[in-house]
Amino acid sequence: MVDLSQYKKDFPILSRTVRGGNPLVYLDSGATSQKPEQVISAEGDFYRKHNAAVHRGAHLLAEEASAAYESARENVATFIGAKAAETIFTKSATESINAIAYSFGNSDSSSKFSIKAGDEIVVSEMEHHANLIPWQQLAKRTGAKLRWFEVTPEGRLDLSKLSDVINAKTKIVAITHQSNVLGSITPLKPITAAARAVGALIVLDACQSVPHFKVDVKELDVDFIMFSGHKMLGPTGVGILWGRETLLNEMSPFLFGGSMIDSVTMTEATWAQLPQKFEAGVPNMAQAVGLSAAVDYLNKVGMKNLHEHEIALTKQMLDGLSQIQGVNIIGPVEIKDRGGVVSFTIDGVHPHDVGQYLDQHGIAVRTGHHCAWPLMRKLNLVGTTRASFHLYNNADDVIKLLDSVSEVQAYFKVKI
Ligand code: ALA
Repeated sequence: MVDLSQYKKDFPILSRTVRGGNPLVYLDSGATSQKPEQVISAEGDFYRKHNAAVHRGAHLLAEEASAAYESARENVATFIGAKAAETIFTKSATESINAIAYSFGNSDSSSKFSIKAGDEIVVSEMEHHANLIPWQQLAKRTGAKLRWFEVTPEGRLDLSKLSDVINAKTKIVAITHQSNVLGSITPLKPITAAARAVGALIVLDACQSVPHFKVDVKELDVDFIMFSGHKMLGPTGVGILWGRETLLNEMSPFLFGGSMIDSVTMTEATWAQLPQKFEAGVPNMAQAVGLSAAVDYLNKVGMKNLHEHEIALTKQMLDGLSQIQGVNIIGPVEIKDRGGVVSFTIDGVHPHDVGQYLDQHGIAVRTGHHCAWPLMRKLNLVGTTRASFHLYNNADDVIKLLDSVSEVQAYFKVKI
């Protein structure tokens, strides 16, 4: 296993104890990651030393703040193989997805973004709500039809009806890169090929991929991706929308106001060049700078090392859970095309009770529907317990979780 143990000390929260002196075992990075001191300091230093509204002051602080903000953009863009002009700061991945869906809904009929009755939008049953509801609403507003890929019993995307689901009526394919519940990584090539063949635009929800393995937009053959800062060691309140420059140039802005304009009269306005066109108002400068520090940190660790580390922990977890009686793994048991998220249920015990039992032992996991309710319905589950990793986790964390899981049925007096 790759040894990333030297990094754990950088995360102040991981040295605290919880629930009667237990060391914190944080296994909920799929919901939000912890932050290293370097990120916390970068954000704090921005406020302490450089705080000013970017792109609108004639003073030194405004100059420094603008330089820090634009340099953060360059850094994040390089991290995903993108150009800075195509890399938009939003407040969250959810906002990024809504921005695209809104632009589609508000385009005039001559635009390639126009959606109307008869058009189809394709998602999958494994989307988290952020990449489902904006499209559901767009379909409702426009009369377009929502279509979706199903999930196989193993927990993979079912592409057996690919040519039916993606067809001549398809305008948008919006798909997750990695399921936040099942851990399965989407096989993109057949999907992008089918979408390209019918001229559909491809939106990739990279919330669970960019924080964990190398993603290069040049290699993906998609049109838009989005992800959030807080899942990749960065601050809350910052997300990214990346889109192809030609498309972003054509797309209508989502938010209107200061800084996104070129010229304004009492009755008309024209839009600024990219990326400002999509960044109305005083932006989340300190958070962007914090996100850039997170990118530096991830680069130092190495995304390949990080992925290998998480895969080793995932394998250890899958192997361990499969040996505990009464435990059911929800998602692929094979490590191939899988990320560091492991969901499971325990016969006879509600996931919330499992979570509470683990919490009493200092182990933080997520329980419930994981903002992926349709997937739970499909799997006929009320919810699952989910352990998810980042670079600060180690084999001991997995052993602690497995030990506690093996006690759950006895604790709740489940008859076996
Ligand atoms: N993506 C969030 C999670 O998985 C909702 O916890």
